[in-house]
Amino acid sequence: MILIKNSQTFTALIKEEKAKKVKIGFVPTMGALHAGHLSLIKFARQKCELVVCSIFVNPIQFNVASDLANYPRPIENDIQLLVQEGCDILFHPEVDEIYVNGLVKDSSSNFGNLTHLLEGAIRPGHFDGVVTIVKKLFQLCEPDEVFFGQKDYQQCLVIETLIQRNFPNIVFNICPILREENGLAMSSRNIRLSAEERKISHHIYKVLKDLKDNWQTQHWEIALKNARHILSEAPFKLEYLCVCNAKTLDSIDNFEDNAIALVAVQLGNTRLIDNILL
Ligand code: PAF
Repeated sequence: MILIKNSQTFTALIKEEKAKKVKIGFVPTMGALHAGHLSLIKFARQKCELVVCSIFVNPIQFNVASDLANYPRPIENDIQLLVQEGCDILFHPEVDEIYVNGLVKDSSSNFGNLTHLLEGAIRPGHFDGVVTIVKKLFQLCEPDEVFFGQKDYQQCLVIETLIQRNFPNIVFNICPILREENGLAMSSRNIRLSAEERKISHHIYKVLKDLKDNWQTQHWEIALKNARHILSEAPFKLEYLCVCNAKTLDSIDNFEDNAIALVAVQLGNTRLIDNILL
């Protein structure tokens, strides 16, 4: 695997590869890689000849300074995992390599509800930060296909819209959520959970599964009420649990096809999100 920290070196190598007409698959990440990320690399490997991963903890998408400061950065371990997975290029720039003119968010695009509801409401400006970095990375990497995890479902909808508008030649792939044995969606933040919190974290997937099982019956509202109750009890703090249209994220109050349940909770000091297509 080639490790590159400099943008110009990165784009020069990409240009060389593009001249050979190889298909480039790109997996952008913030590092602290787990099996979920590695599954994205595997998907990319299946569809593309050159697999590129980026590791960049993007400061402008964090709302809370301590979350950014405490974000895990086990770079040596990440590199080892990527080598084992057969990744070809790792782009791992420093902050000032990316934000040459300071930490400025690009808020020029209007994504409507997609960036204002749910995560957007709780983390104002978060998606502007995500869109800013993803645009920059796509411009540098010029991928043919990109691979994102369904766990960040709202992010997937925003990126899909960004691609339709600004990068129509990129193929967008949403890859399934990988779960721990107890159902907890894999996340870089899971390592912050205490043993006790980890034990009860199975409730998050269980309530989502319950909603799925009861969707299409008149019991789903009861399931939703129960779910909200379970995830509101300490040490859980419920931020939202909603059933929404899976394309627009408008909330739903009757059975319809193409629905998704999305949840965000604080478990102790750790913020967790998850979702399930109904
Ligand atoms: O999903 C993530 O890890 C990040 O939001 C992304 C897409 C790499 C942008 O920083």
